Amino acid sequence: MSTVRTFTTSRNHIAGIAVTELAEKFGTPVYVYDQQVIDQRIAELKAFDVVRYAQKACGNLAVLDRMRKQGVVVDAVSAGEIRRAMAAGYSLEPGKHEIVYTADIFDRDALELVVKHSLPVNCGSPDMISQLGERRPGADVTLRINPGFGHGHSQKTNTGGQQSKHGIWHTQIDECLRRADQTGVTVTGLHMHIGSGTDLEHLSEVCDAMERTAKEVGRTIKTISAGGGLPVPYKADETYVDLAKYFELWDATRTRLSEEFGHQVALEIEPGRFLTAESGFLIAEVRSVKQVGDNHFVLVDAGFNDLARPVMYGSYHPISVAAKNGDASEREQADVVVGGPLCESGDIFTQREGGYVDSRRLPMTRVGDFVVLENAGAYGFVMASNYNSKTRAAEVLIESGEAKLIRKRETFDDLVRGEVIPG
Ligand code: LLP
Repeated sequence: MSTVRTFTTSRNHIAGIAVTELAEKFGTPVYVYDQQVIDQRIAELKAFDVVRYAQKACGNLAVLDRMRKQGVVVDAVSAGEIRRAMAAGYSLEPGKHEIVYTADIFDRDALELVVKHSLPVNCGSPDMISQLGERRPGADVTLRINPGFGHGHSQKTNTGGQQSKHGIWHTQIDECLRRADQTGVTVTGLHMHIGSGTDLEHLSEVCDAMERTAKEVGRTIKTISAGGGLPVPYKADETYVDLAKYFELWDATRTRLSEEFGHQVALEIEPGRFLTAESGFLIAEVRSVKQVGDNHFVLVDAGFNDLARPVMYGSYHPISVAAKNGDASEREQADVVVGGPLCESGDIFTQREGGYVDSRRLPMTRVGDFVVLENAGAYGFVMASNYNSKTRAAEVLIESGEAKLIRKRETFDDLVRGEVIPG
């Protein structure tokens, strides 16, 4: 696998199908996923014993179904995600561990489901050990440990260190084991996830912390999970993590622990972004092009209700233009600001963290052209909202050259379902 990626500012096709054709058939804004990209990412992780997809990145049932058919299991962070995994055909058979509930609390719905189906649990807070133990004495659990440090692409996605609410603080292992003993719970595995969109240097530091903690827990440990966090390049100067090297570090840690304990320790990885980010494209139609002082605004029909990452983290998404007629690569380029339809100034796709409006050099657009927000397959649709009473976009999966609708565009009836005007 090459460590770099190239990006283009004009694009006529997605997975071999014309952007204009996709827009015409499914309407805009629309999320389109290229299954081949997901398949390739899955294949790149085959060295790990278990690939557990963090479905929060892109949880459409069709995407989960395709993951399942390729042997990728899932985590679930809520009752909704447990049910989503079940609806996608994941098995509840004990011992298979196809769905693991991993969170920092049990809300009441999640606890009921976990108890009802005897689901494996990865506890991110000491209270979870006791709450599960009371309902299911003798259960096996894994613990999510906060190793005392973390790193993410944004402070909001850093999940380690004392500013983070995530995981069991690394000095509280003994206390957790005593809690577990009270209800006959056994700690059979450990998990560490220090953040999303981090880098190899920080990811590697986790191995040492894992080894130390696993030795403290002792021989009951049968699995270790490296968590998620694998970054993908969103810009030309960003690179992929050297996966062979990453695996090697974890494999060495696992091997040392297997020798120490006298039994095989399984190695899991739990990526979200890595598996789906690059498969996803958000197609939007240009609805207005206007000059505001020095800024040239291109306003499209998708907003932060569709893709929240720029407004939420100042995230950079590659953007390309698909001309309604002809080829955008032949157009003159200009520095433009790309914004959406929402009644809020922050509804800008080209912004930096802190809300500073940036411009992007793109082919000139006219009303009716299309703008494609790329690398939008992870934390894209799943973070969409109905702000401004916008209906959520349709989702489409392209496989074997065919574009299939996997989620209908919401309707007004969907929007007001459940609302009541009291008499
Ligand atoms: N495992 C756990 C326990 C997690 O909390 C997460 C992400 C993952 C795995 C997957 O992380 P990934 O491989 O995708 O980096 N909305 C943010 C990302 C939030 C990530 C939350 N947890 C974004 O748009 O960047």
